Amino acid sequence: MTTETLLGYGRDYYLPVYRPRELVLARGQGARVWDADGRDYLDFGAGIAVCSLGHCDPDLVAALVAQAGTLWHTSNVFYSEPPLRLAQELVAASRFAERVFLCNSGAEANEAAIKLVRKWAAAQGRAPTQRTIVTFRGSFHGRTLAAVTATAQPKYQEGYEPLPGGFRYVDFNDLGQLEAAMAGGDVAAVMLEPVQGEGGVMPAAPGFLPAVRALCDRHDALLVLDEIQCGMGRAGTLFAHWQDAVVPDIVTLAKALGGGFPIGAMLAGPRVAQAMQFGAHGTTFGGNPLAASVARVALHKLGSEAIAGNVARQAAALRDGIAAIDRDLGLFAEVRGRGLMLGAVLAPAHAGKAGAILDLAAAHGLLLLQAGPDVLRFVPALNITDDEVAEGLRRLRDALSAYAAG
Ligand SMILES: Cc1ncc(COP(=O)(O)O)c(C=O)c1O
Repeated sequence: MTTETLLGYGRDYYLPVYRPRELVLARGQGARVWDADGRDYLDFGAGIAVCSLGHCDPDLVAALVAQAGTLWHTSNVFYSEPPLRLAQELVAASRFAERVFLCNSGAEANEAAIKLVRKWAAAQGRAPTQRTIVTFRGSFHGRTLAAVTATAQPKYQEGYEPLPGGFRYVDFNDLGQLEAAMAGGDVAAVMLEPVQGEGGVMPAAPGFLPAVRALCDRHDALLVLDEIQCGMGRAGTLFAHWQDAVVPDIVTLAKALGGGFPIGAMLAGPRVAQAMQFGAHGTTFGGNPLAASVARVALHKLGSEAIAGNVARQAAALRDGIAAIDRDLGLFAEVRGRGLMLGAVLAPAHAGKAGAILDLAAAHGLLLLQAGPDVLRFVPALNITDDEVAEGLRRLRDALSAYAAG
């Protein structure tokens, strides 16, 4: 089937909630993908920060293929070995969690976290009005009704009213606002991304997470960390919050946990691990043997010293390379982020042009993401090589030069 026909199917048959670039990708290997016409691209987006071991990592493929011929599904009415072992390995890796709930996506993991907060508060005898969850402007927590209400960005919420109650929003990295929002004593949890992703690749300021933890302790509230995008090695450590030296009560994971195969997880620490009991929550597909088999391998590899070392090395190379391009072209106000989760913020004169630049980058053989209209987002595979980063930077320079030339 021709690319044109396939693109037509996308235009005609998909619910038009997405506007993908006009590319039909056919194959991927490592940090590279090929379209249906055989053109190659360096993939600096890894899906949306999902394929952290690159496309078709041989160890992930082997785990998936082996499990595909063994057992696909038991639902949660029977045990099977892969999710049991994944749960144990996530608890051991997390350094804080006692129990795990496995699901299929990030939004589901956050939905579980929100429900767990409420169950915990209810068990303490707090009235529904005393179970408020504070989240931050610019956050992104997913698209289910509760997750999109936690997402403090009106553009994702408009038209979906009535939204569930019990959420309050404050500015990210603003401790004073958070303190004021918690002063009434009705807050059960504070939920945040250690590095905001969709909201513009914005890291928590140094010292912010410990200060949030202290406020939570003072008000007997839970600290919920959404590491769906910044976790699993992307920020430079297996869990991003390790760099902030805080102990959370709940952490949510998805995206890279399955290396491209759908899976999510909610990790619960000692204060909340028993708050949901039999029948309180569930999912048909969550933690299925296929997803869990792949995630076990992904977790092991993403937690390795080799990955942490490569993230530090390639993050420095990427930052240096973008800075060198910017010295010639002067397009960016700053480059921010942590590890291989970087955002190049367009200078005011180029505000709103991220989408146009992404089109040009794709035309030059480089797949990038944006994080809002003003930020180019770089989230390549964490095992990307020196040569691939160098080649990607050359393609970026060509694309940005074409943009600057108008
Ligand atoms: C931080 C964060 N939380 C939650 C989600 C939602 O994950 P999913 O799309 O798997 O539901 C995302 C997705 O981009 C995310 O970046």
